[in-house]
Amino acid sequence: MIIGVPKEIKDQESRVSCTPAAVNQLVHAGHTVIVEKGAGIESGFTDEEFKEAGGELLDTAKEVWDKAEMIYKVKEPIPSEYKYFREGLIIYTYLHLAADKPLTEAMIENKVIGIAFETVQDGRRLPLLKPMSEVAGRMAVQEGAKFLTKPQGGKGKLLQGVPGVAPAYVVVLGAGTVGTAATRIAVGMGARVTVLDVNVDRLGELVDIFGDEIETLYSNPLNIKKCVEEADMVVSTVLIPGHKAPKLVTKEMVENMLPGSVIVDVAIDQGGSTEVTEGHPTTHTDPIFMVGDVVVYAVANIPGAVAMTSTHALSNSTTKYGLMIANKGWKKAVAECPELKLGVNTAEGYVTYKPVADDLGMEYKDIDELI
Ligand SMILES: NC(=O)c1ccc[n+]([C@@H]2O[C@H](COP(=O)([O-])OP(=O)(O)OC[C@H]3O[C@@H](n4cnc5c(N)ncnc54)[C@H](O)[C@@H]3O)[C@@H](O)[C@H]2O)c1
Repeated sequence: MIIGVPKEIKDQESRVSCTPAAVNQLVHAGHTVIVEKGAGIESGFTDEEFKEAGGELLDTAKEVWDKAEMIYKVKEPIPSEYKYFREGLIIYTYLHLAADKPLTEAMIENKVIGIAFETVQDGRRLPLLKPMSEVAGRMAVQEGAKFLTKPQGGKGKLLQGVPGVAPAYVVVLGAGTVGTAATRIAVGMGARVTVLDVNVDRLGELVDIFGDEIETLYSNPLNIKKCVEEADMVVSTVLIPGHKAPKLVTKEMVENMLPGSVIVDVAIDQGGSTEVTEGHPTTHTDPIFMVGDVVVYAVANIPGAVAMTSTHALSNSTTKYGLMIANKGWKKAVAECPELKLGVNTAEGYVTYKPVADDLGMEYKDIDELI
Protein backbone atom coordinates (compact mmCIF):
# COMPACT_ATOMS: atom_id res chain seq x y z
CA MET A 1 0.00 0.00 0.00
CA ILE A 2 1.13 3.58 -0.56
CA ILE A 3 0.98 5.38 2.77
CA GLY A 4 1.13 9.17 2.88
CA VAL A 5 2.43 11.20 5.81
CA PRO A 6 1.55 14.89 5.34
CA LYS A 7 2.84 17.74 7.48
CA GLU A 8 0.26 18.75 10.10
CA ILE A 9 -1.13 22.21 9.44
CA LYS A 10 -3.48 22.80 12.38
CA ASP A 11 -2.39 25.82 14.44
CA GLN A 12 0.85 25.11 16.36
CA GLU A 13 0.51 21.38 15.68
CA SER A 14 4.07 20.12 15.75
CA ARG A 15 3.48 16.36 15.82
CA VAL A 16 3.92 14.01 12.88
CA SER A 17 2.04 10.70 12.66
CA CYS A 18 5.02 8.39 12.57
CA THR A 19 8.66 8.32 13.56
CA PRO A 20 11.39 7.20 11.14
CA ALA A 21 11.40 3.87 13.05
CA ALA A 22 7.71 3.38 12.25
CA VAL A 23 8.31 4.30 8.59
CA ASN A 24 11.02 1.64 8.57
CA GLN A 25 8.58 -0.97 9.94
CA LEU A 26 6.02 -0.16 7.22
CA VAL A 27 8.66 -0.24 4.49
CA HIS A 28 9.99 -3.60 5.74
CA ALA A 29 6.46 -4.97 5.50
CA GLY A 30 6.56 -4.15 1.78
CA HIS A 31 4.78 -0.78 1.71
CA THR A 32 5.75 2.55 0.20
CA VAL A 33 5.75 5.48 2.62
CA ILE A 34 5.69 8.97 1.15
CA VAL A 35 6.49 11.78 3.55
CA GLU A 36 5.97 15.49 2.94
CA LYS A 37 9.28 17.34 3.24
CA GLY A 38 9.67 18.95 6.65
CA ALA A 39 6.83 16.89 8.19
CA GLY A 40 8.96 15.70 11.10
CA ILE A 41 11.15 18.73 11.76
CA GLU A 42 9.18 20.05 14.73
CA SER A 43 9.13 16.60 16.33
CA GLY A 44 12.91 16.43 15.99
CA PHE A 45 13.17 14.28 12.83
CA THR A 46 15.00 15.47 9.73
CA ASP A 47 14.03 14.60 6.15
CA GLU A 48 17.29 12.61 5.91
CA GLU A 49 16.21 10.38 8.83
CA PHE A 50 12.95 9.53 7.05
CA LYS A 51 14.90 8.84 3.85
CA GLU A 52 17.39 6.58 5.65
CA ALA A 53 14.43 4.71 7.16
CA GLY A 54 13.18 3.94 3.64
CA GLY A 55 10.64 6.76 3.18
CA GLU A 56 10.28 8.77 -0.01
CA LEU A 57 10.15 12.53 0.36
CA LEU A 58 7.75 14.67 -1.64
CA ASP A 59 7.70 18.46 -1.88
CA THR A 60 4.04 19.24 -1.35
CA ALA A 61 1.02 18.11 0.62
CA LYS A 62 -0.93 17.80 -2.64
CA GLU A 63 1.49 15.21 -4.01
CA VAL A 64 1.28 13.19 -0.79
CA TRP A 65 -2.54 13.27 -0.65
CA ASP A 66 -2.90 12.53 -4.38
CA LYS A 67 -0.51 9.56 -4.47
CA ALA A 68 -1.38 7.90 -1.17
CA GLU A 69 -3.93 5.12 -0.75
CA MET A 70 -3.93 5.72 2.99
CA ILE A 71 -3.24 9.08 4.64
CA TYR A 72 -1.70 8.49 8.05
CA LYS A 73 -1.84 11.71 10.04
CA VAL A 74 -2.41 13.10 13.54
CA LYS A 75 -5.21 15.68 13.66
CA GLU A 76 -8.53 15.77 11.82
CA PRO A 77 -8.29 17.28 8.33
CA ILE A 78 -9.01 21.01 8.36
CA PRO A 79 -11.17 22.65 5.62
CA SER A 80 -8.18 23.49 3.38
CA GLU A 81 -7.46 19.73 3.21
CA TYR A 82 -11.00 18.67 2.19
CA LYS A 83 -10.14 19.30 -1.46
CA TYR A 84 -7.86 16.25 -1.39
CA PHE A 85 -10.68 13.85 -0.41
CA ARG A 86 -11.62 11.22 -3.00
CA GLU A 87 -13.55 7.98 -3.16
CA GLY A 88 -11.78 5.04 -1.53
CA LEU A 89 -9.07 7.12 0.18
CA ILE A 90 -8.37 5.84 3.71
CA ILE A 91 -7.71 8.52 6.34
CA TYR A 92 -6.26 7.08 9.53
CA THR A 93 -6.04 9.82 12.19
CA TYR A 94 -7.88 11.51 15.09
CA LEU A 95 -11.25 12.63 13.67
CA HIS A 96 -13.59 13.65 16.55
CA LEU A 97 -16.51 13.70 14.09
CA ALA A 98 -19.29 14.06 16.68
CA ALA A 99 -18.06 17.62 17.16
CA ASP A 100 -17.50 18.38 13.46
CA LYS A 101 -20.44 18.09 11.05
CA PRO A 102 -18.78 19.88 8.09
CA LEU A 103 -15.87 17.40 8.15
CA THR A 104 -18.26 14.45 8.46
CA GLU A 105 -20.28 15.70 5.50
CA ALA A 106 -17.15 16.22 3.39
CA MET A 107 -16.02 12.67 4.16
CA ILE A 108 -19.44 11.21 3.34
CA GLU A 109 -19.81 13.17 0.09
CA ASN A 110 -16.39 12.03 -1.08
CA LYS A 111 -16.81 8.43 0.15
CA VAL A 112 -13.65 8.56 2.25
CA ILE A 113 -12.90 5.71 4.67
CA GLY A 114 -12.31 7.46 7.98
CA ILE A 115 -10.61 5.39 10.67
CA ALA A 116 -10.53 7.40 13.88
CA PHE A 117 -7.80 6.78 16.45
CA GLU A 118 -10.10 7.87 19.28
CA THR A 119 -12.81 5.24 18.71
CA VAL A 120 -10.57 2.19 18.29
CA GLN A 121 -11.73 0.35 21.40
CA ASP A 122 -10.68 -2.83 23.15
CA GLY A 123 -13.18 -3.52 25.95
CA ARG A 124 -13.10 -0.31 27.98
CA ARG A 125 -9.64 0.61 26.69
CA LEU A 126 -9.14 3.29 24.04
CA PRO A 127 -5.60 2.30 23.03
CA LEU A 128 -5.00 5.11 20.52
CA LEU A 129 -6.49 7.87 22.65
CA LYS A 130 -4.59 6.81 25.75
CA PRO A 131 -1.07 7.99 24.87
CA MET A 132 -2.25 11.51 24.04
CA SER A 133 -4.56 11.56 27.05
CA GLU A 134 -1.53 10.78 29.22
CA VAL A 135 0.18 13.84 27.74
CA ALA A 136 -2.89 16.12 27.80
CA GLY A 137 -3.68 15.38 31.45
CA ARG A 138 -0.16 16.26 32.53
CA MET A 139 -0.08 19.39 30.38
CA ALA A 140 -3.54 20.50 31.53
CA VAL A 141 -2.36 21.10 35.10
CA GLN A 142 0.97 22.56 33.95
CA GLU A 143 -0.89 25.06 31.71
CA GLY A 144 -3.58 25.68 34.32
CA ALA A 145 -0.89 26.50 36.90
CA LYS A 146 0.61 29.04 34.50
CA PHE A 147 -2.76 30.74 33.90
CA LEU A 148 -3.42 30.86 37.63
CA THR A 149 -0.58 33.37 37.90
CA LYS A 150 -1.42 37.07 37.95
CA PRO A 151 0.44 38.14 34.77
CA GLN A 152 -1.56 35.53 32.80
CA GLY A 153 -4.95 36.74 34.10
CA GLY A 154 -5.24 34.32 37.01
CA LYS A 155 -5.91 35.05 40.66
CA GLY A 156 -2.21 34.83 41.53
CA LYS A 157 -2.07 31.57 43.41
CA LEU A 158 0.74 29.02 43.62
CA LEU A 159 -0.49 25.42 43.44
CA GLN A 160 1.57 24.21 46.36
CA GLY A 161 1.22 27.21 48.62
CA VAL A 162 4.09 27.65 51.08
CA PRO A 163 4.44 26.76 54.76
CA GLY A 164 1.68 28.59 56.58
CA VAL A 165 -0.29 29.28 53.36
CA ALA A 166 -2.90 26.89 51.97
CA PRO A 167 -2.35 25.26 48.58
CA ALA A 168 -4.63 25.90 45.60
CA TYR A 169 -7.73 23.73 45.12
CA VAL A 170 -7.87 21.68 41.92
CA VAL A 171 -11.06 19.89 40.85
CA VAL A 172 -10.73 17.13 38.26
CA LEU A 173 -13.93 16.05 36.48
CA GLY A 174 -13.53 12.52 35.10
CA ALA A 175 -11.13 9.91 36.46
CA GLY A 176 -10.07 8.28 33.19
CA THR A 177 -6.68 8.57 31.55
CA VAL A 178 -6.61 12.38 31.31
CA GLY A 179 -8.11 12.73 34.80
CA THR A 180 -5.59 10.36 36.35
CA ALA A 181 -2.65 12.07 34.66
CA ALA A 182 -3.94 15.50 35.72
CA THR A 183 -4.39 14.24 39.28
CA ARG A 184 -0.82 12.89 39.27
CA ILE A 185 0.59 16.31 38.40
CA ALA A 186 -1.75 18.29 40.65
CA VAL A 187 -0.91 16.05 43.62
CA GLY A 188 2.77 16.17 42.67
CA MET A 189 2.66 19.97 42.62
CA GLY A 190 1.14 19.97 46.10
CA ALA A 191 -2.40 21.11 45.34
CA ARG A 192 -5.49 20.03 47.27
CA VAL A 193 -7.35 17.78 44.82
CA THR A 194 -10.91 16.45 44.41
CA VAL A 195 -11.72 14.01 41.62
CA LEU A 196 -15.31 13.34 40.48
CA ASP A 197 -16.58 10.52 38.28
CA VAL A 198 -19.77 8.51 37.80
CA ASN A 199 -17.67 5.35 37.76
CA VAL A 200 -17.14 4.54 41.43
CA ASP A 201 -14.80 1.62 40.63
CA ARG A 202 -12.55 4.03 38.78
CA LEU A 203 -12.57 6.43 41.76
CA GLY A 204 -11.56 3.45 43.92
CA GLU A 205 -8.59 2.80 41.65
CA LEU A 206 -7.50 6.41 42.08
CA VAL A 207 -7.75 6.11 45.86
CA ASP A 208 -5.53 3.01 45.58
CA ILE A 209 -2.98 5.08 43.65
CA PHE A 210 -3.09 8.39 45.52
CA GLY A 211 -4.38 7.38 48.95
CA ASP A 212 -5.24 10.25 51.27
CA GLU A 213 -3.70 12.81 48.96
CA ILE A 214 -6.99 13.17 47.08
CA GLU A 215 -10.67 13.33 47.87
CA THR A 216 -13.12 11.55 45.54
CA LEU A 217 -16.77 12.38 44.96
CA TYR A 218 -19.57 10.86 42.92
CA SER A 219 -20.26 13.10 39.94
CA ASN A 220 -23.75 14.62 40.09
CA PRO A 221 -24.91 18.18 39.41
CA LEU A 222 -24.92 19.19 43.08
CA ASN A 223 -21.42 17.87 43.84
CA ILE A 224 -20.08 19.38 40.62
CA LYS A 225 -21.60 22.78 41.48
CA LYS A 226 -20.15 22.78 44.98
CA CYS A 227 -16.65 21.80 43.85
CA VAL A 228 -16.49 24.02 40.75
CA GLU A 229 -17.63 27.12 42.61
CA GLU A 230 -14.96 26.59 45.24
CA ALA A 231 -12.14 25.61 42.87
CA ASP A 232 -9.08 27.61 41.89
CA MET A 233 -8.67 25.32 38.88
CA VAL A 234 -11.15 22.96 37.20
CA VAL A 235 -9.76 20.36 34.82
CA SER A 236 -12.61 18.77 32.89
CA THR A 237 -11.87 15.46 31.22
CA VAL A 238 -15.20 13.66 30.90
CA LEU A 239 -15.82 11.36 27.96
CA ILE A 240 -18.66 9.18 26.76
CA PRO A 241 -16.79 7.40 23.96
CA GLY A 242 -17.62 8.69 20.48
CA HIS A 243 -20.32 11.11 21.71
CA LYS A 244 -20.25 14.84 22.14
CA ALA A 245 -19.06 15.64 25.65
CA PRO A 246 -21.81 16.21 28.27
CA LYS A 247 -22.02 19.85 29.43
CA LEU A 248 -21.39 19.29 33.13
CA VAL A 249 -20.20 22.78 34.07
CA THR A 250 -22.99 25.32 33.56
CA LYS A 251 -22.73 29.07 32.84
CA GLU A 252 -24.15 29.75 36.28
CA MET A 253 -21.42 27.72 38.00
CA VAL A 254 -18.77 29.65 36.05
CA GLU A 255 -20.36 32.96 37.03
CA ASN A 256 -20.15 31.88 40.68
CA MET A 257 -16.41 31.07 40.53
CA LEU A 258 -14.04 33.57 42.12
CA PRO A 259 -12.27 36.05 39.80
CA GLY A 260 -9.01 34.68 38.40
CA SER A 261 -10.03 31.02 38.71
CA VAL A 262 -9.07 28.80 35.77
CA ILE A 263 -11.01 26.20 33.77
CA VAL A 264 -9.07 23.80 31.55
CA ASP A 265 -11.56 21.96 29.30
CA VAL A 266 -9.56 19.05 27.94
CA ALA A 267 -12.73 17.47 26.51
CA ILE A 268 -13.01 20.36 24.03
CA ASP A 269 -12.05 18.02 21.16
CA GLN A 270 -15.38 16.23 21.73
CA GLY A 271 -17.25 19.54 21.66
CA GLY A 272 -16.44 20.80 25.15
CA SER A 273 -17.70 19.72 28.56
CA THR A 274 -18.79 23.13 29.84
CA GLU A 275 -21.52 25.47 28.61
CA VAL A 276 -18.96 28.23 28.14
CA THR A 277 -16.59 26.27 25.89
CA GLU A 278 -19.19 24.79 23.53
CA GLY A 279 -18.21 25.83 20.00
CA HIS A 280 -15.26 27.79 21.37
CA PRO A 281 -12.06 25.75 21.00
CA THR A 282 -8.85 27.74 21.35
CA THR A 283 -5.36 27.34 19.89
CA HIS A 284 -1.84 27.28 21.26
CA THR A 285 -1.35 30.72 19.67
CA ASP A 286 -4.36 32.15 21.51
CA PRO A 287 -5.09 29.57 24.24
CA ILE A 288 -7.52 31.32 26.58
CA PHE A 289 -10.60 33.49 26.68
CA MET A 290 -12.29 35.16 29.63
CA VAL A 291 -15.80 34.51 30.88
CA GLY A 292 -16.27 37.43 33.22
CA ASP A 293 -13.12 37.20 35.34
CA VAL A 294 -12.64 33.46 34.89
CA VAL A 295 -9.82 32.25 32.63
CA VAL A 296 -10.89 29.49 30.21
CA TYR A 297 -8.30 27.32 28.43
CA ALA A 298 -9.75 25.12 25.66
CA VAL A 299 -6.92 24.05 23.35
CA ALA A 300 -8.04 21.09 21.23
CA ASN A 301 -4.58 19.74 20.49
CA ILE A 302 -2.74 20.11 23.77
CA PRO A 303 -0.16 17.34 23.05
CA GLY A 304 0.92 19.21 19.90
CA ALA A 305 2.86 21.59 22.14
CA VAL A 306 5.21 18.85 23.32
CA ALA A 307 5.67 17.13 19.98
CA MET A 308 8.98 15.48 20.79
CA THR A 309 7.28 13.47 23.53
CA SER A 310 3.88 13.10 21.86
CA THR A 311 5.03 11.92 18.43
CA HIS A 312 6.95 9.00 19.93
CA ALA A 313 4.03 8.02 22.19
CA LEU A 314 1.46 8.26 19.39
CA SER A 315 3.53 6.48 16.77
CA ASN A 316 4.30 3.64 19.21
CA SER A 317 0.55 2.93 19.54
CA THR A 318 -0.82 3.69 16.07
CA THR A 319 1.76 1.85 13.95
CA LYS A 320 0.39 -1.58 14.93
CA TYR A 321 -3.07 -0.86 13.49
CA GLY A 322 -1.62 1.12 10.56
CA LEU A 323 0.37 -1.97 9.61
CA MET A 324 -2.73 -4.14 9.88
CA ILE A 325 -4.69 -1.88 7.51
CA ALA A 326 -1.77 -1.71 5.06
CA ASN A 327 -1.03 -5.46 5.13
CA LYS A 328 -4.59 -6.71 4.76
CA GLY A 329 -6.52 -3.84 3.19
CA TRP A 330 -9.04 -2.02 5.38
CA LYS A 331 -11.97 -4.41 4.93
CA LYS A 332 -10.07 -7.58 5.88
CA ALA A 333 -8.20 -5.81 8.69
CA VAL A 334 -11.46 -4.53 10.17
CA ALA A 335 -13.25 -7.86 9.73
CA GLU A 336 -10.48 -9.65 11.64
CA CYS A 337 -9.88 -7.06 14.37
CA PRO A 338 -12.97 -6.03 16.40
CA GLU A 339 -11.22 -3.11 18.09
CA LEU A 340 -10.17 -1.65 14.73
CA LYS A 341 -13.69 -2.17 13.39
CA LEU A 342 -14.92 0.29 16.04
CA GLY A 343 -12.47 2.84 14.60
CA VAL A 344 -14.27 3.04 11.25
CA ASN A 345 -16.39 6.20 11.44
CA THR A 346 -17.17 6.69 7.74
CA ALA A 347 -17.08 4.39 4.72
CA GLU A 348 -18.55 4.30 1.24
CA GLY A 349 -20.68 7.39 1.80
CA TYR A 350 -22.10 6.50 5.24
CA VAL A 351 -21.48 7.23 8.89
CA THR A 352 -20.59 3.81 10.29
CA TYR A 353 -20.11 4.75 13.96
CA LYS A 354 -23.44 4.97 15.78
CA PRO A 355 -22.64 7.67 18.40
CA VAL A 356 -21.48 10.04 15.64
CA ALA A 357 -24.59 9.38 13.52
CA ASP A 358 -26.83 9.91 16.58
CA ASP A 359 -25.11 13.12 17.71
CA LEU A 360 -25.11 14.64 14.23
CA GLY A 361 -28.57 13.38 13.25
CA MET A 362 -27.13 11.62 10.19
CA GLU A 363 -27.95 8.28 8.58
CA TYR A 364 -26.14 5.31 10.14
CA LYS A 365 -24.97 2.17 8.34
CA ASP A 366 -23.68 -0.87 10.20
CA ILE A 367 -20.10 -1.46 9.07
CA ASP A 368 -20.82 -5.21 8.83
CA GLU A 369 -23.06 -4.45 5.84
CA LEU A 370 -20.09 -2.94 4.00
CA ILE A 371 -17.27 -5.39 4.65
N1 LIG B 1 -7.65 18.67 24.23
C1 LIG B 1 -6.75 17.75 23.92
O1 LIG B 1 -5.70 18.05 23.38
C2 LIG B 1 -7.01 16.31 24.28
C3 LIG B 1 -5.97 15.38 24.26
C4 LIG B 1 -6.24 14.06 24.65
C5 LIG B 1 -7.53 13.69 25.03
N2 LIG B 1 -8.51 14.64 25.00
C6 LIG B 1 -9.90 14.35 25.39
O2 LIG B 1 -10.00 14.19 26.80
C7 LIG B 1 -11.20 13.46 27.07
C8 LIG B 1 -10.92 12.36 28.10
O3 LIG B 1 -10.11 11.37 27.53
P1 LIG B 1 -9.68 10.08 28.39
O4 LIG B 1 -8.71 9.32 27.56
O5 LIG B 1 -9.32 10.48 29.77
O6 LIG B 1 -11.06 9.26 28.43
P2 LIG B 1 -11.44 8.12 29.49
O7 LIG B 1 -12.54 7.34 28.84
O8 LIG B 1 -10.23 7.42 29.95
O9 LIG B 1 -12.01 8.95 30.74
C9 LIG B 1 -13.22 9.64 30.71
C10 LIG B 1 -13.84 9.56 32.09
O10 LIG B 1 -15.00 10.40 32.10
C11 LIG B 1 -15.89 9.77 33.01
N3 LIG B 1 -17.24 10.35 32.90
C12 LIG B 1 -18.20 10.10 31.98
N4 LIG B 1 -19.31 10.80 32.30
C13 LIG B 1 -19.02 11.49 33.44
C14 LIG B 1 -19.76 12.39 34.26
N5 LIG B 1 -21.02 12.72 33.99
N6 LIG B 1 -19.13 12.92 35.34
C15 LIG B 1 -17.87 12.60 35.63
N7 LIG B 1 -17.13 11.75 34.91
C16 LIG B 1 -17.71 11.21 33.82
C17 LIG B 1 -15.82 8.31 32.62
O11 LIG B 1 -16.38 7.48 33.63
C18 LIG B 1 -14.31 8.14 32.47
O12 LIG B 1 -13.69 7.72 33.67
C19 LIG B 1 -11.68 12.93 25.71
O13 LIG B 1 -12.70 13.79 25.21
C20 LIG B 1 -10.46 13.06 24.84
O14 LIG B 1 -10.77 13.15 23.46
C21 LIG B 1 -8.27 15.93 24.64
